[in-house]
Amino acid sequence: MSTSFPSFVNLLAAAEALTDTWSPRVVAQVNDQFVKVARLHGQLTWHAHESEDEMFLILKGNLRIEYRDMAAIELVTGDMHVVSRGVQHNPVAKDVCLIALVEPVTTLHTGDVIIDRTRTLEQQLTGPVRKK
Ligand code: NI
Repeated sequence: MSTSFPSFVNLLAAAEALTDTWSPRVVAQVNDQFVKVARLHGQLTWHAHESEDEMFLILKGNLRIEYRDMAAIELVTGDMHVVSRGVQHNPVAKDVCLIALVEPVTTLHTGDVIIDRTRTLEQQLTGPVRKK
């Protein structure tokens, strides 16, 4: 991929620079994975990523990951959680929560569901943290 990223980025500062919620921004590529930051508030939507695991790292705040078939997981600052491929999940942030995500470049952030909040990859690559 030809897009270039800074070799150094402060994840928390990059996330704090975001104003849109549920609109991930790519800050780096590591092999076939993107590292993204996002600002979350409220809930996204129930979805699954058929063939990709999705890593959440909480930079600031609290995030609840709801599951259909098992207990929800409550994450706090510093926590990391991997949502397994194919598993229905629904992220809920009661208050503003800043996160980093690591996921394959092919991952759609709303998985198998297309909603108003679904952002294209191009939109995720265009933002304040992208190196011009
Ligand atoms: Ni997801």
